[in-house]
Amino acid sequence: MRISLLGGTGDIAEGLVLRWSQKGHEIFIGSRSQEKAEGIAAEYIEKLKELGIEPKIHGMANADAAKHSEVIIISIPPEYAASTIEGCADSITDQIVVTPVVSMKKEGKTFLYDPPSQGSSAEEIRQVLPETAKLVSAYHNLPAKELALIHEDMDYDVVICGDDEDSKEVVKNLTEEMKNLRVLDAGPLSVSPMIEAITPLIVSLNVRLKNHFSVKFV
Ligand SMILES: NC(=O)c1ccc[n+]([C@@H]2O[C@H](COP(=O)([O-])OP(=O)(O)OC[C@H]3O[C@@H](n4cnc5c(N)ncnc54)[C@H](OP(=O)(O)O)[C@@H]3O)[C@@H](O)[C@H]2O)c1
Repeated sequence: MRISLLGGTGDIAEGLVLRWSQKGHEIFIGSRSQEKAEGIAAEYIEKLKELGIEPKIHGMANADAAKHSEVIIISIPPEYAASTIEGCADSITDQIVVTPVVSMKKEGKTFLYDPPSQGSSAEEIRQVLPETAKLVSAYHNLPAKELALIHEDMDYDVVICGDDEDSKEVVKNLTEEMKNLRVLDAGPLSVSPMIEAITPLIVSLNVRLKNHFSVKFV
């Protein structure tokens, strides 16, 4: 598939770009700076070529990346996600849009869920997307560091939600191409606050216990 990542130069994007490139998907790394996106794209191409993979990765401005793709990942910090999407308005029509966005605040060493006034980052993003775009909430609980270690399998569950069944099926298939990840569909987009709220708990546990926990339902 053609997949773009807005803010694709950042942490959570790295593992997604590398792992989906291994599976032959065409990747469009978006950025506020075309030059920065091209630099990161070149770095990932080099890394994958060393593994004998010929990736299709391109770097460009966020709006151009969104325009080229069937699936758009919003890999942007929470406070800038909505404005970045608004800046790409002409490029987002009926694509599948995936939000891993979580808004957290820190009190000492503890992270707490800090949703925007709309109730969740997913709802905030829903409100700036055209109605024709199909929003799926996913990947909030995946740790970027482990995701980027492409030789290691991640034995985690990925809880997703959204209002369009076909789009969730696409995201499920893309996710389960990454070995050992299992997708659990938790229902409509209104479930997103509960999924998002798990992330600060995981981050706090990882800081306190120096671990790399994620989520696995047993
Ligand atoms: N890190 C994790 O482990 C993790 C796990 C699950 C979910 N998430 C979620 O994924 C999203 C991205 O997280 P991340 O850790 O990948 O973030 P990040 O590395 O801090 O930032 C991602 C990208 O966002 C862009 N950006 C930064 N400031 C911006 C601004 N003012 N306006 C527009 N774009 C800006 C930057 O790209 P350019 O400079 O190239 O424009 C940056 O490379 C967040 O919403 C986070 O809650 C993260």
